[in-house]
Amino acid sequence: GTPVYILAIETSCDETAVSIICDGTEILANVVSSQIETHQRFGGVVPEVASRKHVESITWILQEALDKAKLHPSQLSAVAVTQGPGLVGALLVGMVAAKAFACAWGLPLIGVHHIAGHIYANALVHRLEYPFLSLVVSGGHTELVYVESEGHFRIIGQTRDDAAGEAYDKVARALKLPYPGGPHIDRLALESEEALTLPRAWLEPDSYDFSFSGLKSAVLSAMNSAAMKGQTLSAGAVARGFQDSVVEVLVEKALRAVKAYGAKQLLLAGGVAANKGLRSRLEARCAEAGVPLLAPPLPLCTDNAAMIGAAAFLKFRRGQFASLDLKADPQLKL
Ligand code: KG4
Ligand code: ZN
Repeated sequence: GTPVYILAIETSCDETAVSIICDGTEILANVVSSQIETHQRFGGVVPEVASRKHVESITWILQEALDKAKLHPSQLSAVAVTQGPGLVGALLVGMVAAKAFACAWGLPLIGVHHIAGHIYANALVHRLEYPFLSLVVSGGHTELVYVESEGHFRIIGQTRDDAAGEAYDKVARALKLPYPGGPHIDRLALESEEALTLPRAWLEPDSYDFSFSGLKSAVLSAMNSAAMKGQTLSAGAVARGFQDSVVEVLVEKALRAVKAYGAKQLLLAGGVAANKGLRSRLEARCAEAGVPLLAPPLPLCTDNAAMIGAAAFLKFRRGQFASLDLKADPQLKL
């Protein structure tokens, strides 16, 4: 049949991103404009600044994606946009741009859940087999999601406090590393021979939930008590101890859930899926347990619009279009 070209827009946090996907798997354009430098001096994302930056960037990023894909808007099949969750002002910019574009060119609109996007980033490069289990780890989310069939998600465990990426960023901040701290901790942890001994938050024996704020506090109190004795802990030992604790809990709970739910695959998703320590331990444990492990390539782990296009393609095939009064929802449920 005729190829399906989807233009996708993602502006839920601090990346302004537009992508064009052909038939759900071929990436014709994937433009990501990061605001990290703007937010770095504040040590984190400032919502109002993020919205303003999205407004400044969205039009030329849209144009750049069309130029890269060498497509005219009239050749497109649909426009997809992240509906939520995320920062409300940031989401609104993408939503308004998507509606205006869809209206101007008479294209159907598709709303996508940000986490469905992270999960289906895997569909850009892998063949998915249902039911599967997804470990979603990002700056805003830490969830174990059981996906029984296409588009049917069930959250079986989630963080009770900080998201994994949030904990990485907070510990990085304590170590005076730049924002976002995840990649810096990852690098320090891999280079370090020593590891600070830290607790593991297993919670109740049958729970698939997570908790990272106690771990973060344990790191801070170890750093403080060293400082009181006039010592400083090596950043490497702190990073390694912290990463070992986070990774061990994530990996063991994910594998336990895969077995309990009879999942055929384990899909890693979200910005923290770029973590080398997490990937290598998951690979080793999945190989041991005979569980097929899928993960997106690194640039498709952190926020991008290609993943939104991939999830939208599935909705396109099922005819799940939105009306032009689709509302951005900062708390959107999966
Ligand atoms: O998915 P994402 O781009 O945005 C959200 O939807 O939250 O994830 C960003 C998060 C940040 O907290 C960042 O520190 C973390 O992903 N991150 C990492 C790594 N790369 C990015 N965390 C640990 N190790 C990494 N290599
Ligand atoms: Zn994300």
